[in-house]
Amino acid sequence: MTQPRHILAIDQGTTSTRSIVFDDAAKPIGTAQCEFQQHYPEGGWVEHDVEDIWRDTVKTAREAIAKSALPASAIAGIGITNQRETVVVWERVTGKPIHRAIVWQDRRTAKLCAQMKAAGEEEGVREKTGLLVDPYFSATKLAWILDEVPGARARAEKGELAFGTIDSFLLWRLTGGRVHATDVTNAGRTLLYNIRTQAWDEELCRLFRVPMAMLPEVHDNSHVFGMTDKELLGAEIPIAGVAGDQQAALFGQACFDVGMAKSTYGTGCFMLLNTGKEALASQNRLLTTPAYRLNGEMTYALEGSIFVAGAAVKWLRDGIGVITHARETNDMATQVPGNHGVYMVPAFVGLGAPHWDPDARGAIFGLTLGATQAHLARAALEAVAYQTMDLAQAMVADGGKAPEAIRVDGGMAANDWLCQFLADMLEAPVERPVHLETTALGAAFHAGLATGVWESLGDLAATWTQGDLFTPRMKADERQQLIGGWHEAVRKTLTR
Ligand code: G3P
Repeated sequence: MTQPRHILAIDQGTTSTRSIVFDDAAKPIGTAQCEFQQHYPEGGWVEHDVEDIWRDTVKTAREAIAKSALPASAIAGIGITNQRETVVVWERVTGKPIHRAIVWQDRRTAKLCAQMKAAGEEEGVREKTGLLVDPYFSATKLAWILDEVPGARARAEKGELAFGTIDSFLLWRLTGGRVHATDVTNAGRTLLYNIRTQAWDEELCRLFRVPMAMLPEVHDNSHVFGMTDKELLGAEIPIAGVAGDQQAALFGQACFDVGMAKSTYGTGCFMLLNTGKEALASQNRLLTTPAYRLNGEMTYALEGSIFVAGAAVKWLRDGIGVITHARETNDMATQVPGNHGVYMVPAFVGLGAPHWDPDARGAIFGLTLGATQAHLARAALEAVAYQTMDLAQAMVADGGKAPEAIRVDGGMAANDWLCQFLADMLEAPVERPVHLETTALGAAFHAGLATGVWESLGDLAATWTQGDLFTPRMKADERQQLIGGWHEAVRKTLTR
């Protein structure tokens, strides 16, 4: 029998779950996707029902395999990639969650984080984790569940409950409860994992009041984590790759050399710069984060995290009905000769890097009677580019090499107007690959390395194909004027 040469990637994102079967040329040959319900029980709170996520994972995985017209036995391995930081706590005996997942965007622990910062805890946390004390990360959310669900803390201490990010939860379910594990990129976003010693940190667990008995085992990204139950997908398939979605996108974009960077435009926007073996500490409030670990050897990245990118366009569509489809923003932005002085600061869930202001809220400035829907659409797109530019500048200020070009991906990267504006703001070429599903591809790459579909990073890099290239063409004075207006708008939005 010939060796299976295809990989199934499961990409569990913030608003949708998708599964893609890739062939060994990294070409997608079967795709299925489901959007799922968001829960907003209070202002600033965001939750997911993990049973919805589980249902959609199985459904899309089956559909993607069916669409590829391959038998399940032709799948060499599964790669999982996921929205990071989102917290799930479940019972080890039943596999049932004890609370809805608390999503990375959720701000309910902002007050606790402010208190911890005021008590001088941030520096120590930062040295070990590369992160900041912010509600974005998992630890304070996990402590919230343990405090608020009756009996949870005592049960966790007895080892009855398991904690995991979404990858861990899916691994548990896919293996019928036999595996409780995660990878370095997901562990590295919890505030409990020391990215230098590469182990869960006792002191951090004490500080955030998290019992170590509930933590998963941490592995390399390319690793056989376990086998799926046969009845689930029609064959026992090794789950052979796991990575947080932004690190998976860096990997899928083949950014393997120091100084290579990518920016992914999904719900939020996350820019990662490969810094190699060095865990570069940021002076500009960027994050230091594991990019990938292969054969026990860690590669690090600097990360800039923007919480709202595609979500601003979704708000234009679902919140205020200015558009009926995201792709309309491309034409609307092109229709108007300039931004008319209209700026949107999309701080709907606070601001991430480099400001880290959880209390800031979204604002639109510069409205006159001449402002139109097109200006709002353009302002949303411009904001995404300005924020990326702020991140790139912070990376260079941190001693990262200015990337010669930036690779973009994610749904919004299909927007030509945005890519051109981005090249103008960054003053650097923007490279768009032929396939924009690089997050799923990164997970597939990890699984493919562990199962022998691909042998080396060189094999992976050879599959990367450039599509469109956008080069800077805006005049310097126009650029300066636009940027000045943006910084003024941000200044007015910040609460501290
Ligand atoms: O850190 C949050 C990030 O992993 C979410 O990614 O693609 O769902 O915006 P996305």
